[in-house]
Amino acid sequence: MATSSSSSISSSDLLALVVLVLVSSSCFISATSFSFSDHKHNTKPAGFTARLIHRDSPESPFYDPKLTDDERMRNAEQRSIERYNHLARRPNDVRAPVDYLTSVFVISFGVGTPPVDTYAAMDTASDITWIQCLPCEKCFTQDRGVPIFDPRKSSSYVKIGCEDPICSGDVHGRLTCDRDGIYCSYHQSYYDTAQSGGILSIDNFSFLDNTHLDGKIKIQLPFGCGHNNTNPNGVYGIPGVFGLNKDALSFITLKDFERFSHCFVTIYKKGSPKTSLIRFGQDAIITNETTPMVGFGNKTFPHYYVSLEGISVGLTKLNIPEGTFKTSETGYRGVIIDTGSTNTNLAGDAYDLLLAELRRQIILQRVSISNYELCNLVTKMEEMINRIPKITYHFSGLNHTLEGWNAWSPYRSSKYGLIVCLKFKRATDDLTIIGFEHLLDVNVGYDLRNKVISLQNGDCTKD
Ligand SMILES: *[C@@H]1O[C@H](CO)[C@@H](O)[C@H](O)[C@H]1NC(C)=O
Ligand SMILES: *[C@@H]1O[C@H](CO)[C@@H](O)[C@H](O)[C@H]1NC(C)=O
Ligand SMILES: *[C@@H]1O[C@H](CO)[C@@H](O)[C@H](O)[C@H]1NC(C)=O
Ligand SMILES: *[C@@H]1O[C@H](CO)[C@@H](O)[C@H](O)[C@H]1NC(C)=O
Ligand SMILES: *[C@@H]1O[C@H](CO)[C@@H](O)[C@H](O)[C@H]1NC(C)=O
Repeated sequence: MATSSSSSISSSDLLALVVLVLVSSSCFISATSFSFSDHKHNTKPAGFTARLIHRDSPESPFYDPKLTDDERMRNAEQRSIERYNHLARRPNDVRAPVDYLTSVFVISFGVGTPPVDTYAAMDTASDITWIQCLPCEKCFTQDRGVPIFDPRKSSSYVKIGCEDPICSGDVHGRLTCDRDGIYCSYHQSYYDTAQSGGILSIDNFSFLDNTHLDGKIKIQLPFGCGHNNTNPNGVYGIPGVFGLNKDALSFITLKDFERFSHCFVTIYKKGSPKTSLIRFGQDAIITNETTPMVGFGNKTFPHYYVSLEGISVGLTKLNIPEGTFKTSETGYRGVIIDTGSTNTNLAGDAYDLLLAELRRQIILQRVSISNYELCNLVTKMEEMINRIPKITYHFSGLNHTLEGWNAWSPYRSSKYGLIVCLKFKRATDDLTIIGFEHLLDVNVGYDLRNKVISLQNGDCTKD
């Protein structure tokens, strides 16, 4: 586990690692239009396990070797702030979900027959899976020479007809009949000017399965074939989005996978690559202690809201005002688990109390570092981990104690020792977001049938 790691670890080493993979297959003849709804229960694997790539890890196709670790951290920080602002302002507006470009993990797969390797941003806060498609009315440049998918070269590609119930079933109005009234068009706009539009289609996606013997999993999946896409940030040319929220058009809903789980590895150790995994269906690991996914009254939200009842520092339970973490009808308040966010943003009242209590209990030399409110000087990370009180989240029905590495990050080594800073941020709005930094070496299970989430600390490099 993290606690046995050396003290000279750099902040970028903390980046978790994710790679998902691909592919190969044979041919078949395509029809012109396809009704997904008739085939909803067609064969799919009972479960599969895919690898994830952290966008800033050297294995990521979107890794920029020219950046320094500090720049990478600053960029991640900036993306996290943008994402928070989007989520907090329009928490459950799936018509304009968070800017997917801020997502942290990338999933890789093959699409079509023969399969073309491509990537998408894994996003537990959006639904439609889409990738850029040729011919482009408008496309952005994809990074690292990843080619744009050409559906004309895929023998298994089919457009979904506009009379298909899937096309009229989107309550958010993003699906319409195309001009000729034949195919189903989609248009997804994001918070800023990012958008993707094209034809809702179906094709075979192939994933390199991590656990099954033949190593390949093929899944027929409805997706947006984007012929008209805008990416305002240009630089982050991730070809598309892999949507995992609870809405009707997300991968897990479309394919009836009722469970999934992920485990992000803490540290990428050079020479012995460890990968983060995402498991679907029967492969998913839902551990014993669970907390309900919450909505507001009988209203459900697409994002993964949970009920947080309190926080403790050591044995001291913070005196957080009643209602601080309560979900509101619109979702503007409450607590979301969001793997697309790097940071954890804690609602102001709770954050202030947490900081005050940590300052009271921790007797170590303080260092002031811009952008961090609590940093201490230690000889090495272990000292920090052994000498600081643990922070525990009290969720409804589940207590989750943060491992030291998930609450504190090594900021920088200096000649006086290692500077270690608290990872929490003060939320600028009332929404609390638990980001992926708090979920390293934690198995997070999503059981959509029973509407619960499980959290369990463990070593994600072991099964
Ligand atoms: C595409 O996937 C479907 C459903 O799994 C399968 O029946 C079909 O054979 C696949 N097509 C090709 C060309 O692999
Ligand atoms: C492409 O997208 C832009 C922006 O949403 C839109 O104005 C334009 O009409 C779209 N083009 C087509 C052919 O749909
Ligand atoms: C989880 O629950 C099962 C069945 O209730 C029990 O057998 C098992 O020991 C529990 N595991 C843990 C780690 O508590
Ligand atoms: C669900 O919410 C709606 C709208 O607020 C309300 O009319 C209805 O009675 C509620 N149903 C249940 C079972 O609580
Ligand atoms: C969580 O911790 C609190 C305080 O330590 C304790 O009272 C409660 O029983 C625990 N809940 C569970 C589900 O373990």
